[in-house]
Amino acid sequence: MNRVLGLAQLSDDEITTLLDLSDRFAKDGIPPARPGRFVCGLFFNPSLRTRTALEVASLSLGAHCIVHDVGAGVWKIETRDGAVMDGVAQEHVRDAVGNFLSTAVHAIGVRTFAEISRPYEECRKDPVLSAIVSASRVPVINLESAIEHPMQGLADLLVLRRHKPRKVAITWAYHPRALPMAVPNTALIGFARAGYEVHLCHPEGFDLDPMVHEQAGGNVTVFEDMDEGLRGVDVIYAKSWGARGEYGPKGHAELRVPHKGWIVNRERQGNAAFMHCLPVRRNVVVTDEVIDGPNSWVSEQAHARVLTQAAVLHELL
Ligand code: CP
Repeated sequence: MNRVLGLAQLSDDEITTLLDLSDRFAKDGIPPARPGRFVCGLFFNPSLRTRTALEVASLSLGAHCIVHDVGAGVWKIETRDGAVMDGVAQEHVRDAVGNFLSTAVHAIGVRTFAEISRPYEECRKDPVLSAIVSASRVPVINLESAIEHPMQGLADLLVLRRHKPRKVAITWAYHPRALPMAVPNTALIGFARAGYEVHLCHPEGFDLDPMVHEQAGGNVTVFEDMDEGLRGVDVIYAKSWGARGEYGPKGHAELRVPHKGWIVNRERQGNAAFMHCLPVRRNVVVTDEVIDGPNSWVSEQAHARVLTQAAVLHELL
């Protein structure tokens, strides 16, 4: 394994190795097995869990982690090849990552969300992550890009593997803003490939990319009615995302307005466990009663983030 860009690019054996290692760390603690190694996190967007997990996991392994908010304290980075750099970016990714960071650290983590104000066809090419991968001479870790969030996906798979459910629903929920699709994409690919029977629930027009369905394989049924899709499942994994029609300069926020009723509440939860990657808008995406209830796994998911991050760094450093 020389980089982790998405669950779609990891083999089943590689995912199992990372989950086994994470479980070993949960049992025995994270060993300081990578002293003298350096990790750099480049954050183009905000983060609490991923950023903290990267730092805690690095330090627990005996490595050192440096985190930069791109454009705040470090220079803005241009990622387009051949750009005439007379705009706001002060340096090119080839210099920041290729000519400097690759010589200074042993792995680079990158968080770069989809820019929803740009056309979807541009975002699905994951332009910033791709430019960094192409410039880097050290392993790159995707800390959530336009297309995947493999660090979250590994933590989610660790939790599911412990509880052994059969049917898992990934459901869209209302949110006032269009959010990226990385989390549901990774959940769909990871859960379906792991053999869970997946119900993917979303309103009409909020479909995930056909490329992601292809990477997930066949064990997925799509529901455009939330109640129908959640009925009889063992786990409800909630997440909001933007429709492909909401991408681009016009936004089309009106597309989500009719779906304000898509919230996970006690009635819809039934006996199912509840999962969410966090951050979450309480009483919009999920009611307090569900997320704070006895069948909520969000705390276990959040705790798993450090374990799986440590497993990834252990393998890449
Ligand atoms: N789930 C997740 O990635 O959280 P952060 O955005 O806080 O990192």
